[in-house]
Amino acid sequence: MASTSDVIQFFTAQHGVYDRFIQFVGYERGLRKFFEQSCLLRSGLRVLDAGCGTGAVTIALHDALGRRGIAPAALDAFDLTPAMLHRFHDKFESRGIQMITTTQADVLQLEKLPHGWNDYDLIVSASMLEYIPRERLAEALAALRGRLADSGCLLVFITKRNWFTRPLVGWWWRSNLYDKTELMAAFKQAGFPQAEFRAFPAGASHLATWGHIIEAPKNS
Ligand SMILES: C[S@@+](CC[C@H](N)C(=O)[O-])C[C@H]1O[C@@H](n2cnc3c(N)ncnc32)[C@H](O)[C@@H]1O
Repeated sequence: MASTSDVIQFFTAQHGVYDRFIQFVGYERGLRKFFEQSCLLRSGLRVLDAGCGTGAVTIALHDALGRRGIAPAALDAFDLTPAMLHRFHDKFESRGIQMITTTQADVLQLEKLPHGWNDYDLIVSASMLEYIPRERLAEALAALRGRLADSGCLLVFITKRNWFTRPLVGWWWRSNLYDKTELMAAFKQAGFPQAEFRAFPAGASHLATWGHIIEAPKNS
């Protein structure tokens, strides 16, 4: 998309359709399965969801933590589009979840995040970096890296480029699409020494045609 205002306009118009679409494809359920088995989760974790939208990742993570009996220290989330944030807010309020904090922010202007939104153990970003101009992907990754604790890790779910995603995500959802080589180059440029691709586990394998998972520790 041409600009951030185009992105805001698009997701303001589409937030209801987006939520129904991800429910239909079992997206949140797949993410929860991933987190149920991820070794990145531990108690006392400070987590940031970058580009949280209507909250699929934070809610999947919250539910996986609950099922594993793990209590996080913080679940913060930001997004560019107020309409997406409002929908997310309604969801966690209606479920009585109190520990999620959200704010409006642009990943390319993270200096505007609230005071204290740093030193995260885990930053997760799903289906958001696709909306950054391709030539600024490494800059966005580097900005997220700057919000990690020294031992922290960035976890990215991002759309693959293939026959399935080209019409469904690239065209319909106006998303950039990526292959592994492009992603590795961007993570390297952003200063991540050891980014690695991960697989969707059993129970979430329906998402494998759609997305890459990249786990990138801040330091080696
Ligand atoms: C496809 S939705 C994904 C939402 C959520 N992460 C998920 O996985 O369902 C893309 C989201 O990225 C947000 N977004 C796009 N560009 C952004 C930016 N520069 N900074 C922060 N959020 C952005 C949009 O507002 C939208 O809510």
